[in-house]
Amino acid sequence: MSFVRVSSVSIELRALVLCGAAALALTSVSPALAQAAALTPAASVADARARADRLLAQMTQDEKLAMVHGYFPPLAERTPGAPLDQMIPSAGYVPGVPRLGIPALRESDASLGVANQVEQRKGDVATALPSSLATAATFDPSIAYAGGAMIGAEAHAKTFNVLLAGGVNLTRDPWNGRNFEYLGEDPLLAGVLAGEHIRGVQSNRIVSTVKHYALNSQETGRGILNAVIDEAGLRESDLLAFQIAIELGRPGSVMCAYNKVNGDWSCENDFLLNHVLKADWSYPGFVMSDWGGVHSTAYAANNGLDQQSGQELDSQIWFGAPLVAALATGEVPQARLDDMVRRILVGMIESGAIDNPVPATAQTIDYATNAQVSQHAIEQGAVLLKNEGDILPAARTARRIVLVGGHADVGVLSGGGSSQVRSVGGAPVEIPLTSGAAASFARTTWHASSPLRAIQAIAPDAEVTYVSGDDAAAAAEAVRSADLAVVFAVQWTTEAQDVENISLPDGQDALISAVAAANAKTVVVLETGGPVLMPWLDRVPAVLQAWYPGQRGGEAIARILFGEVNPSGRLPITFPRSGDQAPREHPVGMDALRASEAAAASNPGAGSSAAFASFDVQYPEGSDVGYRWYDLKDATPLFPFGYGLSYTDFNYGGLTVEGGQTVTVTLDVTNAGDRAGIETPQLYVTAENGVRRLAGWARVALQPGETRRVTITAEPRILAEYDTALPGWRIAAGPHAVAVARNAIDAGLTGSADLTPRTIKP
Ligand code: BGC
Repeated sequence: MSFVRVSSVSIELRALVLCGAAALALTSVSPALAQAAALTPAASVADARARADRLLAQMTQDEKLAMVHGYFPPLAERTPGAPLDQMIPSAGYVPGVPRLGIPALRESDASLGVANQVEQRKGDVATALPSSLATAATFDPSIAYAGGAMIGAEAHAKTFNVLLAGGVNLTRDPWNGRNFEYLGEDPLLAGVLAGEHIRGVQSNRIVSTVKHYALNSQETGRGILNAVIDEAGLRESDLLAFQIAIELGRPGSVMCAYNKVNGDWSCENDFLLNHVLKADWSYPGFVMSDWGGVHSTAYAANNGLDQQSGQELDSQIWFGAPLVAALATGEVPQARLDDMVRRILVGMIESGAIDNPVPATAQTIDYATNAQVSQHAIEQGAVLLKNEGDILPAARTARRIVLVGGHADVGVLSGGGSSQVRSVGGAPVEIPLTSGAAASFARTTWHASSPLRAIQAIAPDAEVTYVSGDDAAAAAEAVRSADLAVVFAVQWTTEAQDVENISLPDGQDALISAVAAANAKTVVVLETGGPVLMPWLDRVPAVLQAWYPGQRGGEAIARILFGEVNPSGRLPITFPRSGDQAPREHPVGMDALRASEAAAASNPGAGSSAAFASFDVQYPEGSDVGYRWYDLKDATPLFPFGYGLSYTDFNYGGLTVEGGQTVTVTLDVTNAGDRAGIETPQLYVTAENGVRRLAGWARVALQPGETRRVTITAEPRILAEYDTALPGWRIAAGPHAVAVARNAIDAGLTGSADLTPRTIKP
């Protein structure tokens, strides 16, 4: 049996990504970021292992033991002897070994910027990126890289050397509360962009994680649920996203998830940690637990967990005294402890964090420059969903513009939970939670980027006003004689909770309908965690999906609405037509959770009798996640994966398809309109079960009338089926149906490829 070595696959993939990125001129990136882009990992794996071994040989047993469990600073005072004077309020702290030059790990969340949940560090602001879904919607690895490089630089300037970034769980359900932190439903897109984001973070010589490994696909009951899936399906979906992200990004650490996978907790899952991550993928770094995700000592250590994070959140310090006892009995071999420490050191050495001391105090940050990185990401990642009669871009001749709802007078919404950035300018609206799993660490928070002020600035001759939308009739009255009405519809989502359904909350559907009935020129701007249903879609001529648009969302939205930016985002997730189209209609376990909450509320003394018990979540769709599920079920979504409009038009022609080791397509892409724009032709290959899979894409900037010949090469593992008997990836001879299309359901240009049958190692 012949295997292609994964390293060569990853080099192919990296070359593909870098060439794609280089083909586009990236604007608004500071010289520091451009310089960071040239950096490569600080050390090879072999050198890192050799240096780690030299350090390990000099460490005492106590020094080793201190490195495998970390404090949760907000609760660290509970632990006797905690070095409180060394910590600042943040996610984590693990002491170093100063006499050997091993720095402490100073950990902060996360993917959207240096987080500061519920303003635990008073007055400490940072630059907030838009939702990761917005970054995914750019389909642009260089934007993912730039965002990572920027937030990593801020993290280091704020005295952190570990950023808990790199969230890459696939969107399996549209109601998942954390979808906004992830990169959508496709393993190739999510994996490539997560890898580039991580590479960007680590270009600052700090450690990034990739998380949450694996299948933390819903928040309801995340700490008690068991995700059930078949191995091949898992390998071809969520695990493939992690695998690609790790190959490209080489993160120093992998964070395991809260949930169980096929019966074992993720953080003590021999299959996930030892078998797949460390053996099959040869991952050299360390596995850190999610905060409060550890359930044992010897079982967890022997099954692959290297470090217990946020120890005060677990029921005990499993890797403290109990680990000493387990080493004494031999239940955990000394060699395993050495391996845990070696891996932590390798993560620090390979990323360069070991030789890059954090400043003693927080450094000044050029927030104005960094805000451009965030603005660029949302300008490229907002998705124009509808634009009937070319109502957009809005005419600068409009005299009266009325904005409705969403606190668009003062800011833009952000998502909640550990990723929450306290952004520059503070929070003009902040609503505490009174109940729910997120209540202790989340507030509904708006960033100070006012669409109202941005639109006033861009349309200085117009009268631009705002009404709250609390009263639909009053809003309808206010827009009646306006030249343009823009409704800002919001859906807040947060870590630790799923949304009950994907309808816009708080009567906003009725508000949009009322406004649209009063004024035919109504545009809806959606600031949502993910897909929402749009019962009013037929009555509204234009819709812009702005995700949670980040630090400069107001400015970006204004520039898109008025045509200073031609929208180019493409959906990284399917938007369902109805709530029952997705594989699971509701968060599994939500009813039991509500019942237990109600029981606890009616009888506060009942204690554990009202407990919310462990349950299974079945993932029968396997790797047919998102658009693949719709294809399998022959269901037509509201908006498909890959979809997005532009203010110009593009044509495709002249397709050639080549087979062999992989699929390579070449085609002409033409900008047939009168505006410069960016097009994203997508290569889909049909799998054995008849379902299309995204195997590659290009992102092409074209002037009006310009044609470019574009080549897209498929990632080979997307062409394969995972064969557990082999074990590995198996590519069949074919013929394989190939399409280059605008989105997952567009027919596009079609062809066929014969492939050289081969296998690829897991
Ligand atoms: C989240 C992680 C986060 C950690 C530390 C957990 O609740 O799941 O994503 O990095 O907290 O804040």
